[in-house]
Amino acid sequence: MTRRHSSIFHLGIIYVLILIKIQFSNESELMIDMSNIGLTHVPRDLSLKTATLNISHNNISQLQISDISSLSKLRILIMSHNRIQCLDIGVFKFNTELEYLDLSHNKLEKISCHPTVNFKHLDLSFNAFEVLPICKEFGNMSQLNFLGLSATRLQKSSIQPIAHLNISKILLVLGDSYGDKEDPQSLQDFNTESLHLVFPMTKKFHFVLDMSVSTAVSLELSNIKCGFGDKECSYFLSALSKLQQNSRLSNLTLSHVETTWDSFISIFQCVWHLPIEYFSVIDVKLQGQLGFRYFDYSYTSLKAVSILQVVSDVFNFPQSNIYRIFSNMNIRSFTVSGTRMLHMVCPSQTSPFQYLDFSNNLLTDMIFNNCGNLPELKTFSLQMNQLKELANVMRMTQEMKSLQRLDLSHNSLRYGGGEDNCFWAASLLSLNMSSNILTGSVFRCLPPNIQVLDLRNNRIASIPKDVARLEALQELNVAFNSLADLPACGAFSSLSVLIVDHNSVS
Ligand SMILES: *[C@@H]1O[C@H](CO)[C@@H](O)[C@H](O)[C@H]1NC(C)=O
Ligand SMILES: *[C@@H]1O[C@H](CO)[C@@H](O)[C@H](O)[C@H]1NC(C)=O
Ligand SMILES: *[C@@H]1O[C@H](CO)[C@@H](O)[C@H](O)[C@H]1NC(C)=O
Ligand SMILES: *[C@@H]1O[C@H](CO)[C@@H](O)[C@H](O)[C@H]1NC(C)=O
Ligand SMILES: *[C@@H]1O[C@H](CO)[C@@H](O)[C@H](O)[C@H]1NC(C)=O
Ligand SMILES: *[C@@H]1O[C@H](CO)[C@@H](O)[C@H](O)[C@H]1NC(C)=O
Repeated sequence: MTRRHSSIFHLGIIYVLILIKIQFSNESELMIDMSNIGLTHVPRDLSLKTATLNISHNNISQLQISDISSLSKLRILIMSHNRIQCLDIGVFKFNTELEYLDLSHNKLEKISCHPTVNFKHLDLSFNAFEVLPICKEFGNMSQLNFLGLSATRLQKSSIQPIAHLNISKILLVLGDSYGDKEDPQSLQDFNTESLHLVFPMTKKFHFVLDMSVSTAVSLELSNIKCGFGDKECSYFLSALSKLQQNSRLSNLTLSHVETTWDSFISIFQCVWHLPIEYFSVIDVKLQGQLGFRYFDYSYTSLKAVSILQVVSDVFNFPQSNIYRIFSNMNIRSFTVSGTRMLHMVCPSQTSPFQYLDFSNNLLTDMIFNNCGNLPELKTFSLQMNQLKELANVMRMTQEMKSLQRLDLSHNSLRYGGGEDNCFWAASLLSLNMSSNILTGSVFRCLPPNIQVLDLRNNRIASIPKDVARLEALQELNVAFNSLADLPACGAFSSLSVLIVDHNSVS
């Protein structure tokens, strides 16, 4: 057994940092950050060694050849959030090393093309282009792995020059007046693994774009407004259901969604029958309430669903219908995080859930009380909730026959009981109880086969001498407590990592 004392540990880290710093200065590459300082022009007198230049968030309206031609080492140029209206790609003709150009969030309406560019990353998204800014010359950018674009009008023909490239990710931002003169098949020629479409924020749009022609494996759609019963929502739902035809599609993400509970569940119902495996909804504003809804769980290929960051007081009404729909999902992995969810009910029959992440909600220790329907659950996170009594949480785990990893960190857990009040699942291998209000009594009841135990930042003043033997324990973190003595090792015969910094050990 080795004991890592904190100060030795810190010395190690400092040593590594010094090594990294020397390596960087050996390459004599220069990174210059002049972002957000009110520049109106590209600064003169930049070092000729500049490799990375960040002049984003300024007030620059022009980029001329004389601004940057001397920077022959320039590899990365970040000029997002400025006011540039025209771009002549020829200004980069002397920057032969340039491979990363970010001009997103400017006012670009036009670009002039030039053959000598070979970018890996080119971001022209969030600009004022009417038609797609794709030059014929882009077809020669064989290394391109990210392309950010914006346009108010999509035409299939303008994508032709890059149709033969394999671009890992394409971001396509549709401007406000998008929707009038669309070519519904436009997406067909974007040859990309991952396609992110951003719809206009301000205008209610007609969903004419046919996403089913896309060959992307991963599709993200942003700015979705779907009110109950409105036309846009029904267009959106039918566009979604057409994704049935995309045999390559495996990941679907919806972000910045404004909808009602009813339409939210309609979206889920639609997605349930698509041939996708991973579905995420991020940043959702929900209105209304949810009455009884039948949900058809049959014929799904979904493996994982994530619901992240739901805003407004949407969980502020009788919620049993929502819990019922969520808890009966027939998938392996389910995440609901950053919502104000108060509770979750036990699945009504044996559930296939293996991974549940319910971090950052308002759950109490009544969750999954007496729930025998989670026999497959291996990993469960309840980080950042309102858990209080550890005895209730233990009792919950007792029913979870496969549970190996449990994260209870950042709650208000305490433990009063002794051995007769001790119910941990025997399968538990890793238990994170950091940032709670536990005292030394917690050592009287720990999962018998535990290997990794995190008790950092609690109120442990001493570890009882007569604690149960934890023969499998490999890692114990008791940093940030008020221990006066180092723990005796007799009870922990397999321990290889012990973290005890920030205690009162003299
Ligand atoms: C450039 O500067 C902006 C604003 O300070 C910052 O948000 C961004 O992360 C920087 N980009 C890089 C690549 O360092
Ligand atoms: C940016 O520059 C323009 C003139 O080119 C000026 O009118 C405007 O006030 C400047 N904006 C900021 C935020 O400095
Ligand atoms: C692409 O590169 C080839 C050879 O490197 C060149 O002949 C051709 O003109 C280039 N095409 C464009 C559109 O720049
Ligand atoms: C793109 O990928 C396809 C198959 O994945 C391959 O046939 C084609 O040659 C690739 N094209 C380029 C330009 O790398
Ligand atoms: C799909 O999502 C899964 C899980 O988040 C991820 O591991 C995988 O890399 C994603 N695939 C693509 C093509 O983005
Ligand atoms: C326990 O959770 C905290 C965050 O809540 C995390 O920083 C820490 O790394 C986790 N400990 C282990 C052993 O995974």
